[in-house]
Amino acid sequence: MQAPFERKPRTDEEGSLLERAARLLPAAAKTATMSLDGQMVIAEAHGSKIVDRSGNEYIDYLLGSGPVFLGHAHPVVVAAVQAAAPQGSSYMLPGEDSILLAEEIVQATPCAERITYGSTGTDAVYFALRLARAFRGREKILKFEGAYHGQADSMLMSNQWTRTPEAFPKPSPNSLGIPGHCEEEVLVAPWNDIEQTARLIAKHRDELACVICEPMQRTLPPRGRFLADLREITLEAEIPLIFDEVVTGFRLGYGSAQGYYGVTPDLCALGKSLSGGHPISVVAGKEDFMVFAEGVRKITGDYVSLTGTFSGNPISCAAGRAVLGELRREGAYETLFERGERLRQGLKKSFDEAGIAVQITGEPPAFEPWFSDEPVLDFRSSQRADIGLGHRFAQALFERGVIKGHEKFFVSMAHSDADIDFTLDAARDAIAELARAR
Ligand SMILES: Cc1ncc(COP(=O)(O)O)c(C=O)c1O
Repeated sequence: MQAPFERKPRTDEEGSLLERAARLLPAAAKTATMSLDGQMVIAEAHGSKIVDRSGNEYIDYLLGSGPVFLGHAHPVVVAAVQAAAPQGSSYMLPGEDSILLAEEIVQATPCAERITYGSTGTDAVYFALRLARAFRGREKILKFEGAYHGQADSMLMSNQWTRTPEAFPKPSPNSLGIPGHCEEEVLVAPWNDIEQTARLIAKHRDELACVICEPMQRTLPPRGRFLADLREITLEAEIPLIFDEVVTGFRLGYGSAQGYYGVTPDLCALGKSLSGGHPISVVAGKEDFMVFAEGVRKITGDYVSLTGTFSGNPISCAAGRAVLGELRREGAYETLFERGERLRQGLKKSFDEAGIAVQITGEPPAFEPWFSDEPVLDFRSSQRADIGLGHRFAQALFERGVIKGHEKFFVSMAHSDADIDFTLDAARDAIAELARAR
């Protein structure tokens, strides 16, 4: 059994780095919402553990906001990167790994007939939107309230950080600096409400380029037949359906959420878990869409531009192949799901015993406790949860050697049974403290 966490005092060196970070990096300063901002400087990370510059080691469920799905510095991924680095780091031409990785992604992903690489999830999402707009010859996009689709102007709307939601389908921008016309391009529907969604699709059918969703929205799974019905409605209306699988891709299974939930979109965006923390993303989809990206079309003009200097760079592609090789190992997902489920159930038990009402949403590899006594099914019910208590829980875990993700627990293939036991002990203690303070 691991000894309980005892924090080493912050060294002068880490203190000085934090001061300089606060001065130079505005987003690194401590905020109320990202509970670990401004509290630590990372020295290194291995497997399920991350270590700060004062020598404190934490069990990490943030995992770089998801990508480190095999655990930090996985030896097979490190070896692949070390082998690739001396061969050059950027060609703007395909290397062998970019072609072999494309084959592996197409084999794994139900909607993928062809793919294009980007560098970030944001790239992959707006590439998919551009393909859909070109295919349909329309401009508007229907998204769901509370879904996050990256930082492109038209997607930074009505996401999980929305403070005052508008009446459906009006979007609410999540940042200053977004041109006003972007709001006119986006319609917003309530997640898990197929009747309202169907009505909006029917009403705006002639203006819509596509419908985009996270097939598990943040940690809110599709309820009942929601995804299957959405697929049927969009097929009937001949409106492309995009799954943003930047979080769920390769995480819910080797066939991503589309394999896990058994619903195939026209296009999908993949990122994060694909490459063990090396920047790469993918837009994958059916031939009718992907054909627009063919280089020869630059001459004829019926072309969709999806390029980027670092897209599909050889080091990330080598890392991606190493990751997918590990994910194909017999039993990899079974063990992950067992451990994630044990963590989820153990947390629920401790909250129940402490008399704290909690709803844990998600799937075993990614889930979130919401402090609420009503089911959390969509953005508005999540907004009614006690968010402050969520931050206090994350902070109490941090003080006990466990880092929870900003919005969820990401469970990796590297989290061991001993890590889960340690986390459950830390959580029991943290929950008892929260219960005493109420
Ligand atoms: C569902 C989803 N889509 C897109 C993105 C954007 O990805 P990136 O941060 O790599 O641009 C994210 C990032 O968290 C995401 O969660």
